[in-house]
Parts: sequence; C-alpha cells; structure tokens
Amino acid sequence: MSRAKTIYTCQNCGAQAPKWLGKCPDCNQWNTYAEEIVSQAAGKQSGLIDFASLPPKPITEIDAKEGLHIPVGMGELDRVLGGGYVPGSTVLIGGEPGIGKSTLLLQTLSRLAQSGKKVLYVSGEESAAQIKMRGERLGAASANLWVVTENSLERILEILKKDSPQILAIDSIQTLYTGQLSSAPGTVSQVRESTGHLITWAKRQGTTCFFVGHVTKEGSLAGPKVLEHMVDCVLYFESDPGQTLRILRACKNRYGATHELGIFEMTGQGLKEIENPSNIFLGERNQKNPGSVVTASLEGTRPLLLEIQTLVTHSGLANPRRTCIGADNSRVALLVAVLEKIVGLQLYDQDIFVNIAGGIKTEEPALDLGMAVGIFSSFRNLAVDPKTVLIGEVGLTGEVRPVQRIDMRLQEAAKLGMARALIPSRNTPGTKELKNFQITPVKNIEECLHQLF
Ligand code: TYD
Ligand code: MG
Repeated sequence: MSRAKTIYTCQNCGAQAPKWLGKCPDCNQWNTYAEEIVSQAAGKQSGLIDFASLPPKPITEIDAKEGLHIPVGMGELDRVLGGGYVPGSTVLIGGEPGIGKSTLLLQTLSRLAQSGKKVLYVSGEESAAQIKMRGERLGAASANLWVVTENSLERILEILKKDSPQILAIDSIQTLYTGQLSSAPGTVSQVRESTGHLITWAKRQGTTCFFVGHVTKEGSLAGPKVLEHMVDCVLYFESDPGQTLRILRACKNRYGATHELGIFEMTGQGLKEIENPSNIFLGERNQKNPGSVVTASLEGTRPLLLEIQTLVTHSGLANPRRTCIGADNSRVALLVAVLEKIVGLQLYDQDIFVNIAGGIKTEEPALDLGMAVGIFSSFRNLAVDPKTVLIGEVGLTGEVRPVQRIDMRLQEAAKLGMARALIPSRNTPGTKELKNFQITPVKNIEECLHQLF
C-alpha cells in the first residue's frame, strides 16, 4: 500500500507545515505539531463519519428503535451504560494498566457471545493463547467468541470485510497503527486515524464497538481528546492502590446519565459484581473512633453509605497541611473556614486529613455535614455514635441545606442497621417514618454539634 501524503498541523492553532516543528511559529506553543493525512475529497476526511447522504426528515418520523438498550447481563456494567449497550454504539473503556480493563472486556464479550451474538476480540497486547488461558479462568468459552492478535488497521479492516461481527472489541487502541502514517503506534495521530477509521466502519455496519484505552499519569486518556468526542460512551475504571475494589464510572454517555457507578471486586475468577456496596464501604470501620463518621451519599440512582475518616493534629509547618483523599479539596477548605468562624475552632495551626474510605471519589454536597463533624470530632477527640448517619450540605453561614432524595438515603441507612440520622430541617417534610430509626432535623452546624456531643 502506498503511503498517503501527510502534513504536520499545530493542534493548538491549526497552522500547517511540511515538516515537524518543535515550536509553532504562529502561536508560539511547544510540541503541538502532529502528523496528519492530507485527504483530497472533503467529507472523506479521516475520522469523520460518513453517513451515506440521507435526506433530512422530520424528527417525528425517524425510526429510533435501534436506540434501545440491550442488557449485557452484568448488572453493574449495564447500570453505568444506562441499561445496557446500544447496538451500533462505540464505547471506550479507560483505566490504568493492570486495573482490569481486559478482564472486564473479556467477561462482557463472553456474556454477549453466549447470548448468541457474533463477537470478534482483537488484541494487540496478548497472544490468542494468553487470552484463552484468561478466558478459561473467567469461564469465557463460547464458539461465538472469535479472537485474533493483530495491530495493523489495514489487516483488521480486511478481517472485518470478510466476516463482519456484531460486536467488535479492540484491546487496546494504543497498539493500533496504520501504514499511512510514519509515526509509532500509540502516538496521537496514529490513535486518532486508526480509531476514526474503525468508528466510521462500525457506524456504517451497525456494529457495536468496545475500545480499551490506557490512561496517562495525569489521569486523562492517552491519545487525543478528540477520541472522547468521537465515541458515544467513555467509561473510566478506577481503584485505590492495593485494593480489590474497582469502580466503573461513565464520564460521557450519549444514551444515558453519567453519574452512575458500577462497583466490582477483583477476585481469582475475574471481576465480581458487588450487590450491596454500602456493606463493603462500612465493613472495616472501627467502632467509636474520634474522626470517623458515617454519611449517605447518592451516586446516580443508588444511595451509598460511606465512612468519612478525618485526622486533625498539631502541625509543625508554617503552612499546615490540608489533604483530601476522595473528597473535594476546596470543599474541605470551606468547611474548615466555617468551623473556625462559626463554631470558633482554632484550626490554623492544625494539619487536617480527610479520607473517604474504600477508594471512592465523590463531590456530593450531602457529605459536607459528615466532613465538618468529622473534623470537629477528631479535633476535640470526641467520638460520634457509630450508628448515626450525618446528611446535609453546609452553607457559608453554617446553615445545613437540604439534599436530594433524602428518603432513599434514609432507607439505605435503616437497612444497614443505623439507628439515627441527622438531616437538614428543610428536608423533614418529605421524609417517612422508619422503624427503629430516629430522624433529627438540624438547622445549622452548631445545632448539629449540640445534638451529637
Ligand atoms: P487486566 O484485565 O489484564 O488489566 P488491564 O487490561 O487493565 O491492564 O487485569 C490484570 C490484573 O488483574 C492482574 O494484576 C491480575 C488481576 N486478575 C485477577 O486478580 N483475577 C483474574 O481472574 C484476572 C483475569 C486478573
Ligand atoms: Mg489489558
């Protein structure tokens, strides 16, 4: 195959040059030049989806049956996808090396194959024998699941032309390359060109595509941002280092909401779905410890009981430390300011550490009250009753503001054996009575502390 004509384009301002340049002479940015294919015909430009010119139609007459979700059969994945996969859609799964992307993909594909779909798994990282060995451990054996080790885009397209699968999986996009470009696999232009071609092909054929993508140290998907715009759904796989818990999160979904979480555990037999995550998050809690409080967060449509751990100790530093793991730094800074001004705590010479146990990351405002009380509890060395849940957003004047879906949170708390909840007073009109469960409304942070200590 002859090499296509290429040109170098600045990814910042769009300036072009026949050779690579370190610094763009137009916008003065460094390292922004990337190799791109020059395409003659407009519209055929690589990466663009060619929907074979269909005439416009009134929206009421468009047949949208294909938009239906088909469950994969793994509840947690289906939840994140918004009910299942949509035929003809493209899904990108990102995550750090070794987190379990290939495992999740193989488990998903085997479910789909067992349901009678023709599935092709293209791996550029592992040999077919390695995949088979992993598959045996995961119980993924089906005659409908085809495996090939390949990383040339041209050869993959040839395979696809010969026998076209209903589901295509590429593991990973960083190993793909096209002979049209001289740059190495994994570079921005290679990833964009190859994936663009496959997406165009899949959209035309109505094939569902799963892509695996690696994540850089900064936490963004390696490869161009444009890739996230091209696919329909971007899922991120995350975990706490050294933990077996894995959290799947959608950061883009054209067919559903993006705030749902899928929670799995990595076991010897692959990823296991966690049915009742609150149990796991509260499992390792030490009873009656100052600085430990329980709160009820809402992730998507699911309430989750979480343990907030706080540690406040005297600091020897000129600028005391404020470290947050899983929580929002600026939120904690705000709560510290409220505690200093309104409650009168002297925290300016204290190191403050806040950790959401279990490796979950959340910016839910309803955690505010829990974090504020946690900081107070650790600072004064007073433990909060372990069967008490704290729910509420804290405002700048120390008022406790209402949160969404209070009933779901309270039910989850009662279900897990909690005995009491402190909730925003403006939330009380909407709450139902629960058996053996006391609900205490609070107006502001001072009232809350009075009730607790
Ligand atoms: P893998 O899916 O290969 O990660 P990725 O594709 O994201 O790089 O997962 C690799 C890790 O998962 C590896 O450290 C071993 C572990 N693992 C298990 O604990 N149990 C299993 O059944 C499998 C298949 C993997
Ligand atoms: Mg892998």
